[in-house]
Amino acid sequence: MQPHQLNPQIADDFESVNRFILDHLHSGVPLVEKIGHYIVESGGKRIRPILVLLAARSCNYQGNQHISLAAVIEFIHTATLLHDDVVDTSDLRRGKATANAKWGNAPSVLVGDFLYSRAFQMMVELNSMPIMSVISNATNVIAEGEVLQLLNCKNPDVDEASYMKVILGKTAMLFEAATQTGAQIADASPEQEEALRLYGRHLGIAFQLIDDVLDYQSSAEEMGKNVGDDLAEGKPTLPLIHAMKHGSDEQRKMIRQAIRKGGLEDLEPIRQAVIETGAIDYTFEQARDQVNSALAQLELLPQSPYRDVLRQLAELAVDRRS
Ligand code: IPE
Ligand code: IPE
Ligand code: MG
Ligand code: MG
Repeated sequence: MQPHQLNPQIADDFESVNRFILDHLHSGVPLVEKIGHYIVESGGKRIRPILVLLAARSCNYQGNQHISLAAVIEFIHTATLLHDDVVDTSDLRRGKATANAKWGNAPSVLVGDFLYSRAFQMMVELNSMPIMSVISNATNVIAEGEVLQLLNCKNPDVDEASYMKVILGKTAMLFEAATQTGAQIADASPEQEEALRLYGRHLGIAFQLIDDVLDYQSSAEEMGKNVGDDLAEGKPTLPLIHAMKHGSDEQRKMIRQAIRKGGLEDLEPIRQAVIETGAIDYTFEQARDQVNSALAQLELLPQSPYRDVLRQLAELAVDRRS
């Protein structure tokens, strides 16, 4: 089940967002359009733009600016993916070769910059200082989150608090910006805007926690990304942090060494260790707690079919295989 299939009520909006995205990929430089279309047309769940649509509609928005706002958020997301796959040396995304694998690092970074700046051009058109403030701040914090993660790589002493700081920055910030700006465009009350902001934040944290579980549990076919990418880069994600804390001396030693070295040599025994030590279950529980916090925020919104879909989306974030 893909997020956009959750409710027919947003099907028209969703179509409009996809059209808007394609209409705004134009560039006089052919390689920009080529790479832009390549990554956009390879799909993706479009969960962030859907959050914008639902947040706005759940606050009874009747205009059409939520369409371009949703596209802004998806452009920023897409830009971060282009950069992220270079940083993570990933070669599979959305079931296809990554742009860096196909065209190299330099074009990926530069087209990422193009998408970021196109997002900002589109954002200015919305003519809302509060929205510009939220989105420019989110973009800045995402970059910090990615840099912080880079500093944590290959360091087996990273603790849970530092890991949480990374995922709050690199992932939850954009979810938060999506739902908060959706509320802002709808002129929601301060209470509703805050509820939607926090809903997005908790959902974003849960989403990344599950992403980090899937890196040990899923398959390339299901995820459209390679398994073990995090371990290959020596990323101390929560499943590893928990397994080091609760595993045997031998397990701890193996994981510490794998993080220091990077690479997939010990992927299988490490997979075993994260299961045996309860690290997968623990990470799931943390995600579940975050989803429950997200759901609690929805109580502050008026009853509507859009609010129901926000509820379903939160459930889907922990119950997903891709
Ligand atoms: C990938 O996000 C990056 C993370 C924050 C884990 P998505 O899983 O939403 O990627 P697409 O857009 O569906 O490909
Ligand atoms: C995703 O980070 C966050 C951003 C793209 C900013 P990851 O590196 O964990 O996500 P995937 O697994 O490559 O999608
Ligand atoms: Mg990555
Ligand atoms: Mg990354």
